Amino acid sequence: MEQTLVIIKPSAIHRGLIGDIITRFQRKGLIITGMKMMQLDETILREHYAHLVDRPFFPSLLESMMATPVIVMCIEGKDAVEVVRLMTGATNGRKALPGTIRGDFSMSGQENIIHASDSVENGQIELARFFKPEEIFNYRPSNIRFFYAPDEMN
Ligand code: PPS
Repeated sequence: MEQTLVIIKPSAIHRGLIGDIITRFQRKGLIITGMKMMQLDETILREHYAHLVDRPFFPSLLESMMATPVIVMCIEGKDAVEVVRLMTGATNGRKALPGTIRGDFSMSGQENIIHASDSVENGQIELARFFKPEEIFNYRPSNIRFFYAPDEMN
């Protein structure tokens, strides 16, 4: 099964949306195999958003991402990267479809509630950035056969 990184951003922490977001992933049948709260600093954000450092909005993005601690999660499931991105919606909350996390909770491109890895390769890079190996756990819910057919569980 695939792993992906989700960051619950300060916009969601400020607004008390942590539970709503985690509940959506759990109800979908995704497995949370790592989760912690951490305060991001400029060093890790310059690495995480390296492709954006020259954009005019970067200083504002930095400030926004350091405004409160964030919650980082490792989420697992079949095709988890694509499934989580679909659930996340378009970057700009005003353009994200209703029913997606950003579509339901955000009116902004910056204050867009969560970050989700955009490829399997980036998912692995981003998980290694935010988690130590021992902070990601190898377990399966006891009722997993009600989420997947046997041939879908590899
Ligand atoms: S793009 O097309 O390069 O701008 O988009 P992307 O690679 O998805 O990265 C956008 C991330 O930057 C944050 N951000 C903004 N995006 C667009 N416009 C403005 N003004 C802006 N300010 C900040 C945006 O929240 C994306 O962060 P992540 O964590 O990837 O969702």
